[in-house]
Amino acid sequence: MGSINGREQWSGRLGFILAAAGSAIGLGNIWRFPYSVAEGGGGLFVLIYLIFVLAIGLPVLLAELALGRTSQRNPVGAFKALIPGKFWPYVGGLGVTTGVGILAFYSVVAGWTVGYLGKAVSGELLQAQDGETSNAIFTEFVADPLWPILLCGLFLLLTLVVVRRGVSKGIERAATILMPALFVLLILLAIRAVSLPGGIDGFTYLFTPDWSKLSLNVVMGALGQALFSLSLGMGAMITFGSYMSKRENLWQSGIFVAIADTGIALLAGLIIFPALFFANADPSAGPGLVFVVLPTIFNQMPLGALFATAFFSLLAIAALTSTVSLLEVVVAYFVDEKGWTRNRAASFVSGICFALAVPSALAFGAVSGLSGGEDGILPFGLDFLTLNNNIWGNYSLSIGAFLICIAVGWVWGVPKLLAALEDGDDRRFPMPGAPVVGFLIKVVCPLAVLTVLIFIIVTGQYF
Ligand code: TRP
Repeated sequence: MGSINGREQWSGRLGFILAAAGSAIGLGNIWRFPYSVAEGGGGLFVLIYLIFVLAIGLPVLLAELALGRTSQRNPVGAFKALIPGKFWPYVGGLGVTTGVGILAFYSVVAGWTVGYLGKAVSGELLQAQDGETSNAIFTEFVADPLWPILLCGLFLLLTLVVVRRGVSKGIERAATILMPALFVLLILLAIRAVSLPGGIDGFTYLFTPDWSKLSLNVVMGALGQALFSLSLGMGAMITFGSYMSKRENLWQSGIFVAIADTGIALLAGLIIFPALFFANADPSAGPGLVFVVLPTIFNQMPLGALFATAFFSLLAIAALTSTVSLLEVVVAYFVDEKGWTRNRAASFVSGICFALAVPSALAFGAVSGLSGGEDGILPFGLDFLTLNNNIWGNYSLSIGAFLICIAVGWVWGVPKLLAALEDGDDRRFPMPGAPVVGFLIKVVCPLAVLTVLIFIIVTGQYF
């Protein structure tokens, strides 16, 4: 671990890459991606998502890393330091707020993964022979008024422990063990899933675009998913970049993170959709999709209980390296800007997130008003968790990404961005696409995001 001017740094390039990949890879890939694909009608969503990852995600990722490393600050501090004008620190502030908003529903689903780990160990999951029994297990679990809250609290507590230990000791170490193990396990599961009867249908569903499904909501969902999955639009990568040393090659690290994250999401799709067709499960299962579909393939595997246990352990750790990055953004803000101690900031923020998470934890049957549908009290018939997921995870991130592009492309300027990206001793990997990145950040990304947002406002098709 290094420390420059009292600010901690990653132990090296690998440390950063693992931590950034750890932030990116999480429930977004394995829980959110498959159910967004299902809601978006399959292959078309995947296609648009992939285009957004390349054209918007990757450039915004590089821009955030460059802002962070150059300023060595949290998102608010980074804008204060680099972008002249009173307005810009508020963009950092929106990011910090979004971090709290995302953490307050993400930790609920993360708690579910811990609950499912328990069910895997106890063998209960292996009773899920078909989509129907599996659905019954899930519905009963999430409707409980107590367990989802307790597990969410436990998860936030774990996050707090890691963040209190600091950047390299806590965050890096957790990611180092997880990534390779998760990858290997997902490959094994994908092989099993694709070779199930009906498996090929899932494959086709995932990769064949059905243009009749095209709608604003699909486009918005794919944009939100591309940003969410790469942890963009709220300054998480600004914060992580701020712990990078000047020696490292940002360009190469950024590309690696984007490929790893997208690869894991596609792998998750290759597990869930074949399994879904095999189990005859309901593709519109919403946030429960993964929890309903997966147990049915463990049931079909030799050593299923062992695979289930390994899977939910790894998923919980993957979620932990993501919640850590969310909490870290808010903590870095209080430490850098308000002079709080790391301990105090981490405890305070995770406490707030827990309080805000409670209604999401109760939104699946425990409190009917929060559960969406006809008698729900919430707009658009959404449950409280999904509403938050859409507001913070799609809209807020998109607005954030738009403003980051304007700040970097038009105020800070493309030459400074490119110089910051190239800064580093390791020049073995040149930047063949540098001018393209400049054009994307300056013109394509802001225009694309703005167009989608304007269409949505004008037509009123929010969710
Ligand atoms: N990217 C993570 C996932 O896919 C979630 C996440 C962590 C995130 N940090 C973030 C999302 C910052 C948006 C912004 O699970």
